[in-house]
Amino acid sequence: MDNVIVEIEKPYAVITVNREKKLNALDVATIDELSEAVNTVENNDDVRAVIITGAGDKAFIAGADIAFMQSITPKEAYEFARKGQSLIYSMMDSTKPFIAAVNGYALGGGFEVALGCDFILATDNAKFGFPEVSLGIIPGFGGTQNLSRVVGKNTARYLILTTQMIKAKEAQSLGIVSNVFETKDELLSNAKEIATKIAENGPVAISLAKKAINDGFDLSIDEALKYEATLFGVAFSTEDAKEGLKAFIEKRKPQYEGK
Ligand code: COA
Repeated sequence: MDNVIVEIEKPYAVITVNREKKLNALDVATIDELSEAVNTVENNDDVRAVIITGAGDKAFIAGADIAFMQSITPKEAYEFARKGQSLIYSMMDSTKPFIAAVNGYALGGGFEVALGCDFILATDNAKFGFPEVSLGIIPGFGGTQNLSRVVGKNTARYLILTTQMIKAKEAQSLGIVSNVFETKDELLSNAKEIATKIAENGPVAISLAKKAINDGFDLSIDEALKYEATLFGVAFSTEDAKEGLKAFIEKRKPQYEGK
């Protein structure tokens, strides 16, 4: 892989988009490599959390590749959107938690990759925005849907229709960003600490909790509560639940095997 680096640092993996000269913009090859990276970490039992970041200090991902999009047909544009959505959905649907470590610009497709993660950490100089309508196009990698689900439709419309870029602290006040750090080094060390802390929990429980939140969100409250109860029941069929509950009673740390 040329544009994406995957580092497995048990118990987590770090995926770095590595196209620094183009501010880590997403062309087809980079999206394909990111999808392959998500597949690699999904299938590695040593990985219990995943951090996604961008190479360099300037950008997380400055969007989909504008040079590529300049020459595509409407049909190709549809297929490009589906490809980007499929990447984002593979992260949302993954059994592993994904943490976006946003250093610098997260624009368009970059904001969409961050929104596809379970939560977002950022450097103080991070900037989030959807510039698409200024280019005469619209967000196509899930942004119109996922941003609305995080901040509500009014704020999503405000950000997408005005193309206003917001800094990390403002994104935090809107509930987009969970935590802000001064430097990229601090961002990454804190992301790794948080990933390690998550990895101490039951892996199946982590994946079920994520599923309950993501898949339950668009159901009616009645269906969503039944869905939660179903997954609660599934949790009790695991060795991890037996171990976690027993370890508490025995006053020791649980040893989870992800079964
Ligand atoms: N697609 C393709 N190339 C991109 C890109 C993108 N989304 N974003 C940045 N680049 C490229 C630039 O073309 C430039 O390449 P060059 O050196 O070969 O000319 C390089 O990355 C550096 O970007 P540059 O614009 O010179 O940096 P800057 O600091 O002046 O501006 C941004 C930074 C992020 C404000 C600016 O690059 C930008 O507006 N990018 C596009 C953002 C966008 O609209 N994204 C959504 C796309 S749907």
